[in-house]
Amino acid sequence: MTVPLLSVEKLEVVYHRAITAVQGISLSVKPGQIVAVLGNNGAGKTTTLRAVSGFLGLDDARVTEGNIVFKGMRIENRRPDKITHLGLVLVPERDKVFPNLTVAENLAAPVAHRAGRAERRRREALVYEFFPQLAALKGRIAGLLSGGERQMLALGSALVGSPELLLIDELSLGLAPVAVESLMRRLVEIRDGLGLSILLVEQNASIALEIADYGYVLENGRLVLDGDPKRLLQHQDIREFYLGQTTSGERKSYRAVKQYRRSRRWYG
Ligand SMILES: Nc1ncnc2c1ncn2[C@@H]1O[C@H](COP(=O)(O)OP(=O)(O)O)[C@@H](O)[C@H]1O
Ligand SMILES: [Mg+2]
Repeated sequence: MTVPLLSVEKLEVVYHRAITAVQGISLSVKPGQIVAVLGNNGAGKTTTLRAVSGFLGLDDARVTEGNIVFKGMRIENRRPDKITHLGLVLVPERDKVFPNLTVAENLAAPVAHRAGRAERRRREALVYEFFPQLAALKGRIAGLLSGGERQMLALGSALVGSPELLLIDELSLGLAPVAVESLMRRLVEIRDGLGLSILLVEQNASIALEIADYGYVLENGRLVLDGDPKRLLQHQDIREFYLGQTTSGERKSYRAVKQYRRSRRWYG
């Protein structure tokens, strides 16, 4: 059995000492895996990634139960810079890049680096190799990039920090399907090329499950399903909730399905 790179056990996170956002969430990422965490708005995906990366304190939140182990070390409620230093890097949901800096300046921005200058240069070159579009846009102000280019830059900035585990929050948000497809393929290349692991949070379930080695589904701050991505894609509830499909092949908005299911107290 492979020892997990990251393991989260029975995580509970409370905002403002009052609001329990996630409860009893357990998940793990093995070396080299891409693991998808799916769920609708408010399911607790971002909170989970913030807890793992240490960026909870900024929002007046704390891990109140459970533990988070990265490379054998307990990291819950540790400072985010310390956690980044260990090789766990978050690509956040919002504010992924510095909009007033150029592409090149974003990549060189003074974030916590474990590597020396030569190594950093090497990593910057690597970023341009994975994202040739960025190489052509080195002098462009990040605020003027397209949505897809901005996501590439955010991933690139994270890669410069030499992560062993990349946490990515909603890469696909607001992007055209072709752009999402291409970014996801790039993620697989990055994983294969650099041998790192990825914990990927997505509302776009089908695209995330296509590249993932394992998947978890959150709902209302709890884990409701997990398993092999192929199995999850076939799962009736996933098909109805996240892919908007019914057995008859008819497409429904998930809101409609959801309200219907809620009225039947599905997870009750
Ligand atoms: N800064 C915050 N203060 C209070 N509650 C929050 C805060 N951020 C998130 N929450 C609550 O935590 C729950 C999970 O939110 P979040 O982790 O952002 O979900 P997701 O990323 O899956 O959309 C929601 O009920 C949300 O209202
Ligand atoms: Mg979120």
